[in-house]
Formats: sequence, structure tokens, C-alpha cells
Amino acid sequence: MSARIIDGKAFAAGIRRRVADHVARLADQTGQVPGLAVVLVGEDPASQIYVRSKNRMTDECGMRSIEHRLPDTTTQAKLLDLIYALNGDEAVHGILVQLPLPAHLDPDLVIAAIDPLKDVDGFHVSNVGRLGTGQKSMVPCTPLGCLMMLRAHLGDLSGLDAVVLGRSNIVGKPMAQLLLRDSCTVTMAHSRTRDLAQVTRRADILVAAVGRPEMITGDYVKPGATIIDVGINRIERDGKQRLVGDCAFESCAEVAGAITPVPGGVGPMTIACLLANTVTAFCRARGLPEPEGLTA
Ligand code: GUN
Repeated sequence: MSARIIDGKAFAAGIRRRVADHVARLADQTGQVPGLAVVLVGEDPASQIYVRSKNRMTDECGMRSIEHRLPDTTTQAKLLDLIYALNGDEAVHGILVQLPLPAHLDPDLVIAAIDPLKDVDGFHVSNVGRLGTGQKSMVPCTPLGCLMMLRAHLGDLSGLDAVVLGRSNIVGKPMAQLLLRDSCTVTMAHSRTRDLAQVTRRADILVAAVGRPEMITGDYVKPGATIIDVGINRIERDGKQRLVGDCAFESCAEVAGAITPVPGGVGPMTIACLLANTVTAFCRARGLPEPEGLTA
């Protein structure tokens, strides 16, 4: 293996420290701390684990975590009422509705109900449009984390060839917008892309976010490229449950210059960036300067 490992776990811990320092300064300055409301509908086990870690890390950074757990029989009207109440609550600066929602609830309508200034996921169409037009917005947490790691590892991204593999609203599309804003030459590839290896072999930066275990091997990679592996796939190998990325780690690490591991790469950055976005939302709501190094 020749690639440098980009340690997302250590990077995320650094971001959380910066968030905690900023929260302490805000508390001195304003007498108030940022509040993050997380809404969880139903009993999805993976979502419950996520929400528990979000709440713990919010508290550890000195912010207020507000949790709303609703049964999976909750009606759309009831959920919207809760969101309107959170929009109007001055102690709440960030609102996150955990996805996926139970099938009878419409995620588009629910996200549209969140005040865009409190939309710490950056999923509201107003934030999507603002990001796409280069205006100040809330930036989705996973792509924000990827961008922070890329900037820290490569410095100026200007002029680099970036290939984003995957076109989801949560990762692929906002990632492409962020890389474009940093003056990369961006290609979006997806399941219908022809001769994918030929496309990805042009990439100085390869962001893989397709959710297909280990589909990218070393022969898809340009020598020296930086690989950000967003995939978190549960597989069984040698009779054991394992987490693997969208990239076959050993094979890609033979060719790449740097790579994020799974686990311990992009994963920990998502919650760290959610906390960073909550501090940003607080500062914007109060007309205070934005926290340095915690926004895109
Ligand atoms: N479910 C899994 N990841 C996320 C996320 O980043 N935000 C929300 N709202 N739901 C999720």
C-alpha cells in the first residue's frame, strides 16, 4: 500500500473541539448556547443509533440537544405542527428530521416546512438553490465534511479534475456544487455512465457515493489521486459482518495518493459538520460573525 490514509476520525475530533471552543465563546458573549432539535419518527434501528450519537456529541460540545421521538403512526399534520413549533422556538437554532421517514410521510413536504435558516441538513430547496447559485446557504453535512478533508489534504483545489460517483440529493449533487465552487473541473458519474473506469481514471479527486460495496478497484484510479469514500456498506465476509466502502480499500490504496478508510473516514465527519452547521445557524440568527473554518 502506498496511499496516505486520511484520518476522518481525528479530523472530526478536531472540528468538534473547534465547535466546543466557539460555543464557549458564544455562551460568554450572548448568555445563550446553540440548540439542535432532532426529530425521529418510528423505530428504525440505524436511525436510533445515529440520533443517540448526535445527541451525545451535541451535549459534549456544550450545545443544547432537544430530542423529539414520535411513534411511526404519527400523521403528516402532527409532524408539520411540531416543525412549525420548532421554527418559532428561539432556543432552537437547528432542526434535523431524521431520514428515512415511515412510508406514509412525504419527506419533501416535511423538509419544505423547516425554516431554511434552521435547516442544518441543507436539504431545503432554498438552501439547495442558494448553494447552486453561489449564495450563502446551509451546506449538507456529508459533502461539507468531504470538502474540508480535501482542502486540508490538497490545499487549493482549483483546476483539479474531480469525479463524483453517485447523483443523490444528499451527497452527489451538493458535492459536485461544492467542488465546482472551488474551481474543480467536475464530472458526475452514475449507474448509467458508460466506460466508468475511463471516466474515473481522469480524476485527481474521486468521491465515491453509490452505495455499492467495493465496486471501485485500483484499475479505476489515476495514480496519485485522492479518494474520498462515502460508502458505508454492511457485508458478510469469512462468516463475519464487516463495514466496507464503495472502494476496495487495499486495491485502491496501491494506486491512490491518499484515501479515506471505512470505517473512520467520512462517517465521523458528518456529525461533526452537523454540529458546525448548528453553530453557523446560531451566529447567522444573531447577526454574529461566522465561525472560522467551520463553514464551506
Ligand atoms: N439519515 C442518515 N443520514 C442522515 C442525515 O445526514 N440527515 C438526516 N436528516 N437523516 C439522515
